[in-house]
Amino acid sequence: MAKDRPQRLVILLSGRGSHFENLHQNVHANSLINAEIVGVIADRADAAGLAKAQRLGVATALVRPDRHSSSNQFEHALVTQIRDWHADWVILAGFMRILTPTALMPFEGRMLNIHPSLLPKYKGLDTHRRALEAGDGEHGASVHFVTAALDGGPVLSQVRMRIDKTDTATDLAERLLPLEHQLMQASVALLTRHAVEYRNEDIAIDGQNLVNPMVLGRDLDVTGHWQPHCPSQ
Ligand code: GAR
Repeated sequence: MAKDRPQRLVILLSGRGSHFENLHQNVHANSLINAEIVGVIADRADAAGLAKAQRLGVATALVRPDRHSSSNQFEHALVTQIRDWHADWVILAGFMRILTPTALMPFEGRMLNIHPSLLPKYKGLDTHRRALEAGDGEHGASVHFVTAALDGGPVLSQVRMRIDKTDTATDLAERLLPLEHQLMQASVALLTRHAVEYRNEDIAIDGQNLVNPMVLGRDLDVTGHWQPHCPSQ
């Protein structure tokens, strides 16, 4: 189902903002993604992504936890800002903060995060090092719905890549980032093209239950077209 009006995206970030930048390029230069970035929120004044957004003329807000009397107040401020921008979707792109139901409930089923591992493997930090230490032959990234469980919400889509014997954690991070960007843009494009519903930990796309996460290049292309595949294949 194609959505007729551009979907309004709010991006939350804490750091360099390469996902924001890539998404911005693709959303604004690519008519295949029917969306607009209506605001960027950072939780740190030194987040390079905040300056990038300002340079690109995107509305920004700095919402700092240390400027609020409690984490609950901080999360209320986040919710107020996101609501002010009338977000359809909230995208956590390198937002390095764990949110509680105060910020999650108002956007249940509309908040997604990108995480640099093949979830459910390696929730939390240091995912590249942990994949190497485990001797994995494969690594990747996941886009998932955000729930109160850390990196534990249902996974919408993943990108996979091989780990070579000589790879260091830095090699993995460098090689994964462009794939992460593709995964993010494909996932956002999917949100704008199809009816994506989240209910009770299940994801349905165009009314069809998603049995396994979509894999970029197999079930999902970068323009957001979805090809359901048979789980037994
Ligand atoms: C990305 O690699 C993303 O997967 C990761 O932070 C980086 C943000 O990059 N997210 C997490 O680790 C969340 N747990 P960016 O600031 O250049 O967009």
